[in-house]
Amino acid sequence: MPLFAKDNPTAAARAVPRHIAAIMDGNGRWAVKRGLPRKAGHAAGAEALRKILHHCRDIGVSFLTVYAFSTENWKRSSEEVGAIMQLLQRYLQEAISDMQKNEIRFRFFGDLNALSEPLQELCRKTEEESSVYDGVHLNICLNYGGRDEILHAARDFARKVQTGEAEPEDLTEECFSQMLYSAGTPDPDLIIRPSGELRLSNFLLWQAAYAEFYYTDVLWPDFDAEELEYMDNYYV
Ligand code: FPP
Repeated sequence: MPLFAKDNPTAAARAVPRHIAAIMDGNGRWAVKRGLPRKAGHAAGAEALRKILHHCRDIGVSFLTVYAFSTENWKRSSEEVGAIMQLLQRYLQEAISDMQKNEIRFRFFGDLNALSEPLQELCRKTEEESSVYDGVHLNICLNYGGRDEILHAARDFARKVQTGEAEPEDLTEECFSQMLYSAGTPDPDLIIRPSGELRLSNFLLWQAAYAEFYYTDVLWPDFDAEELEYMDNYYV
């Protein structure tokens, strides 16, 4: 019986994680196993995300943060990078109706300046239009790296000290958290890494301080609601 499900009486006493974060890994291998181009794996990964997001909303998870494109992913072939960017664009264009129907609030974590101007504009528009919704928050990490995020915040704070707006002693954990891309979002309770890798790969380095981890051999495109429920046997 699924532990997270609302209709499971034994689940009632268990806390549903408020914030789940996922590294969407294994798309390439999923495609190669089927003799398909890698971009087909990313398309299947985007579809898996859509379904998991809806399931998170249904079971009462408030925040889902996903690693869509890292600062290191630019090293991939231009064809693959282009395919991921196109998928993102399509996903966000379709997100407008989804956000209304399912009360989804979108945010983007990362340095968006490196993205194409139309994609940056689409990210801004999606954030703005979805800011009225509070059903489930989807945070998409784009051109994101945990170290980059920390450096970015440290530089911002150093500038404040330089201009006399702050003293070095003003820097607390709370204040630093509010200078990160994830400002305003609670730290993840649970980080999922599919596809058999046992690494954090520069994902949410600061925010992961107290998170629990769940690793599985399942590839991200196959990570579905059932996997999420099964995972709860390990969580808590
Ligand atoms: C890692 O798998 C996955 C990525 C680098 C891209 C993830 C992108 C998407 C799921 C689609 C676009 C995003 C959204 C939010 C719609 P991998 O390619 O490293 O897999 P592998 O380790 O099997 O090669």
